[in-house]
Amino acid sequence: MQDQASKLKSSQVVAVISGKGGVGKTLIATNMAATLADTGRKVLVLDADIGFTNADILLGAFPKFSIKDFVNRACSIDDLVTHTNYGVDLVSLGGDVSDVLAVSDLVLKDFTTHFLKLLDNYEIVVMDMPPGFSEAYMPFLALVDDFIIMSTVEPTSIVNTYTIVKLLSIKGIGGESIHLVANMVQDVKEATKLMSRFSEVVERFVNNRVSSVTIIKDHPLVERSIHDRELFVKKYRNIQPSFSVTRLVSILLKASNNPKDQERVLEKFLNLFRGVAR
Ligand SMILES: Nc1ncnc2c1ncn2[C@@H]1O[C@H](COP(=O)(O)OP(=O)(O)OP(=O)(O)O)[C@@H](O)[C@H]1O
Ligand SMILES: [Mg+2]
Repeated sequence: MQDQASKLKSSQVVAVISGKGGVGKTLIATNMAATLADTGRKVLVLDADIGFTNADILLGAFPKFSIKDFVNRACSIDDLVTHTNYGVDLVSLGGDVSDVLAVSDLVLKDFTTHFLKLLDNYEIVVMDMPPGFSEAYMPFLALVDDFIIMSTVEPTSIVNTYTIVKLLSIKGIGGESIHLVANMVQDVKEATKLMSRFSEVVERFVNNRVSSVTIIKDHPLVERSIHDRELFVKKYRNIQPSFSVTRLVSILLKASNNPKDQERVLEKFLNLFRGVAR
């Protein structure tokens, strides 16, 4: 067990989460993953989202099997991995986590072992999460090094983000790097001011540090890239959203240089295990 935990140390796990749905998690997770792969890193996208636009569609890949199939003994762990044209690999959860992992303790143990080994093949794992905060996803969140919390600048979305940061803190996973992303922004200046005030509120009242704030503009070519089934960072390199994703990626790569605490990785692993095994 100790061996597995120390091996896990090599991957940086980034979760893209949000309080509200439809704020661009899948879009940013996939474009970020492709940008990370361009830097020569081995990147995996874990599609844990059951939302509207799935990572497979944006990455132009169609996985045959999902984690759900693996726990139902319908495929091997290697069958889960789909290669994409963006140099990014994709693994799909295949449904709501509580349904997928509603299997015997023995199967869960087997899954956990294989899953951690699979993650270890990658330098960076980007998890595209469903909206909201469900206890069922805690085992996955326990593995996360960097949280990208996405919102729009609408008051309801901001309030939801505040709740998410607070819930993460309550769960004791507040020490991680928290990166805020305001997406679909009309006025960058206004949004920058708003997000900076918001970070101050978080730091003051939730006692949780905000590592970075990224503003992404609402851009018609982003929409077009979805229709054209091509990632916008590839098709439209010179638009504000592409610059912002590139900047976010360099922030994440800097964060990955921070040495990880061996003890914490083991603790995380045990959390994952205890969390899913009933
Ligand atoms: N920067 C942007 N510019 C223009 N349109 C955008 C931008 N970001 C997101 N969108 C629009 O928002 C839609 C929803 O994005 P996406 O599916 O990535 O959200 P999500 O947070 O993953 O949703 P869910 O919560 O359902 O999983 C996209 O299909 C696109 O139309
Ligand atoms: Mg999504």
